[in-house]
Amino acid sequence: MAQSLAAPTHIAIVMDGNGRWAKRRFLPRLAGHKQGVDALRRCVKACAERGVSVLTVFAFSSENWNRPADEVSGLMELLARAIGREVSQLARDGIRLHFVGERANLTASMRAGLEQAEEQTAHCTRMVLNICFNYGGRWDIAQAAASLAARGEAITPDSLDAAMALSHVRDPDLLIRTGGEMRLSNFLLWQSAYSELFFSDKLWPEFDEAALDTAIAAYHGRERRFGLISEQLAQEPHALARA
Ligand code: IPE
Ligand code: IPE
Ligand code: MG
Repeated sequence: MAQSLAAPTHIAIVMDGNGRWAKRRFLPRLAGHKQGVDALRRCVKACAERGVSVLTVFAFSSENWNRPADEVSGLMELLARAIGREVSQLARDGIRLHFVGERANLTASMRAGLEQAEEQTAHCTRMVLNICFNYGGRWDIAQAAASLAARGEAITPDSLDAAMALSHVRDPDLLIRTGGEMRLSNFLLWQSAYSELFFSDKLWPEFDEAALDTAIAAYHGRERRFGLISEQLAQEPHALARA
């Protein structure tokens, strides 16, 4: 039974399958990542048009450093160039950019690029786009705990939540993974506790508006109970959903 037909407020996506997309076409993996940037541009536009408030995407994981060196450097360059090219249009479209992840081991020029893009879109209010880059769910939980410990504060679910890298947004309502794998691969381990999961067999470069609508339609078909029973939902909808 559908609980509500409201568009999911926060959609999170593991953008997986770029490498396989390229391999099937006898292209280098980086060609797949380039197509992946185009797919992301289309997805951002489609989400904004559908009234989504927050889109969080997984672009590079803590573990992706272990890939072949040329793929890693290619991905770094691709991100740097994509930001430079896209940020003005994002600002015009009202999209506020946040980069979520460990910045300490990025180059100084990369860090400056991320900060500049965040500043250029800081006034935007139509939709938040979180790009998880050099991100891992375990990193986020550990860094939140470490910052609380350094301040001598108690570690509770609420204090940890407030110290997380995604504390500026609510938890994702719908978490999509493309590419056919049914795992989280260290994405949003804490925040996905009550997210509706949707796995698409489409490779990320092929993920289009119709595929997004299929995922949103599946979300509408779910009943989010947050530990309650169905009969309680009519009386106190979302009572236990974290704000
Ligand atoms: C996801 O695509 C993008 C990144 C991890 C950077 P992949 O590169 O993992 O593509 P597949 O899974 O090998 O097809
Ligand atoms: C997850 O995909 C990371 C990103 C999409 C950025 P991976 O391709 O790295 O995940 P595994 O290795 O299949 O679990
Ligand atoms: Mg992959």
